[in-house]
Amino acid sequence: MSHGPSPVKLPGRRVLLVISGGIAAYKSLDLIRRFRERGAAVRVIMTAAAQQFVTPLAAAALSHERVYTDLWSLTDESEMGHLRLAQEADLVVVAPATADLLAKMAAGLADDLASTALLATDRPILVAPAMNHRMWAHPATRANIDILEARGVRRIGPNAGELAEGESGWGRMAEPLEIVEAAAAILGAGGPLAARRALVTSGPTQEPIDPVRYISNRSSGKQGHAIAAALARLGAETTLVSGPVQEPDPPGVRVVRVTTAAEMLAACEAALPADVAVCAAAVADWRAAEIAGEKIKKSAGGPPILRMTENPDILATLSRHAQRPRLVVGFAAETEKVIEHAQEKRLKKGCDWILANDVSPGTGTFGGSSNTVHLVTAEGVEDWPPLAKTEVAERLARRIAERLAP
Ligand code: CTP
Repeated sequence: MSHGPSPVKLPGRRVLLVISGGIAAYKSLDLIRRFRERGAAVRVIMTAAAQQFVTPLAAAALSHERVYTDLWSLTDESEMGHLRLAQEADLVVVAPATADLLAKMAAGLADDLASTALLATDRPILVAPAMNHRMWAHPATRANIDILEARGVRRIGPNAGELAEGESGWGRMAEPLEIVEAAAAILGAGGPLAARRALVTSGPTQEPIDPVRYISNRSSGKQGHAIAAALARLGAETTLVSGPVQEPDPPGVRVVRVTTAAEMLAACEAALPADVAVCAAAVADWRAAEIAGEKIKKSAGGPPILRMTENPDILATLSRHAQRPRLVVGFAAETEKVIEHAQEKRLKKGCDWILANDVSPGTGTFGGSSNTVHLVTAEGVEDWPPLAKTEVAERLARRIAERLAP
């Protein structure tokens, strides 16, 4: 029995959907649903004309996100400016793309939120034109399409068929499923890590001393979260096990929140089997041997002496696990003899790769947004230039994809 090809998956992909004003806008509601079914996160911008055809409320209900309509709204600007809207997407889809919006894009106009976001983005753009067939055939529209395609804007449709006005011809918006397929092709879905499972740890752990106090560290979770996002974007089904952090959940990633090292280990083991595990968490090395049942009082005979016990090493445990992922990657935060210590750590913990980073004071690595790392493997050492943590994540995800390639 054949079920046909399984639908493309888009885990973690972030789509910014611009809906402009045409009757085909009703199909864009279905498009939101189709994207979400495949694991993509969808944010929607609607033009004023689009709102004559469908309501922001309907788009919000389907996207599970607020819908953006106004360039000048102060709340929109403070919560999510047009620049962030445009940049926090892996792909911008304009569906339907009216003749008017295509003309604005070709001319570089920016007089509303939709056109401003489109001018402000350097992300790939896919347009799904929809209009009357004479408008589509008009030399002005042809010229605008030529300009946009020469700039790298991708297009799906329009199709031939019956148009809303009872006429027929070229001008019907492509079907939602065709748009999703086109988007998937641009995003590289069925990406290099499609059908792979990834496990990432991130953030600090907190080890309680008594009901109100704990021991922890300054890890921000930025690097681990960026790695989970990058793996998901390459198509991996990704679980992120995170200690307490301020970072938002990466879209399309399954996030398991934990507090202590013991909980982190349990969550990691529950997430197996996985093809790759990346341990980026700053796990507390020790925990209190006994957690006081009541708040330790100052009056209880002077400052307490804490007896500590060692926490499980999650990286080492995963590296020697019966269900060991094919590739296990750890980090080594070092302040001296960075490579030497990282090599030792790789052998001691039994992992395949170590990303060694220099966290000595002055490097700004801890809590900062950039990172200078060396990839230490059995084959040798690769020095990476100073990179943003997001770039370290992208590079690592690509290396993982190469390594796991069949
Ligand atoms: N790690 C872990 N579980 C622990 C401790 C560390 O999974 N209980 C992982 C970290 O996520 C990281 C790697 O081990 O990938 C190295 O952590 P690091 O703190 O640099 O090394 P330690 O093992 O703590 O060694 P030392 O403190 O002696 O440098």
